[in-house]
Amino acid sequence: MKRLLIATHNPGKLAEFRGLLQPLGFDVVGAEAMGFAEPEETGATFAQNARIKALAAANGVMALADDSGLCVAALAGGPGVLSARYAAGDYPAAFSRILAACEAAADRRAKFVCALCLARPDGATATFIGQAEGRIANAPAGATGFGYDPIFIPEGFHTTYAELGAQKSTISHRARAVAQLLAHLR
Ligand code: IMP
Repeated sequence: MKRLLIATHNPGKLAEFRGLLQPLGFDVVGAEAMGFAEPEETGATFAQNARIKALAAANGVMALADDSGLCVAALAGGPGVLSARYAAGDYPAAFSRILAACEAAADRRAKFVCALCLARPDGATATFIGQAEGRIANAPAGATGFGYDPIFIPEGFHTTYAELGAQKSTISHRARAVAQLLAHLR
């Protein structure tokens, strides 16, 4: 089994990576279990931040970092790379602000973006980007997943990510980025 350090402290992301990568023979460990501090995310793009996090973690091991977020048309593409900071731990309040902005703009278009950066022990990196287009729901719905899942309806569906349960991992922005990563590793 190949050990892969996931450079995240987000339990929701770690659970999704376990589900996606463990069945493929990866021994997935989280940054917290390894006693890693999180570096400051100073990049202007998802790809830059993923690289910063992957390189900070790849200390003699292979590390995979994820930088991701929700881009809302009515917020000019925000909160984007600031998604975690925009919520500041209070997701119901962030949902209300996003719903109000979409109503005011009469525009519910949104997308999730996931940048993955794989850093090898020698510092070589490879980056993969997955996106999922969709729209903001009229109201939060569903109880699975994490973060903004209750307000995002992916294209082709009538339910939110948080109502899709395990199906999210077959169609999500993260699943699309992971598919590219796996093609690269093969
Ligand atoms: P990061 O740790 O800086 O990449 O922050 C990503 C933030 O974007 C998370 O804390 C969530 O708020 C949001 N996010 C990223 N991916 C997802 C997802 O799959 N579902 C819901 N929210 C997500």
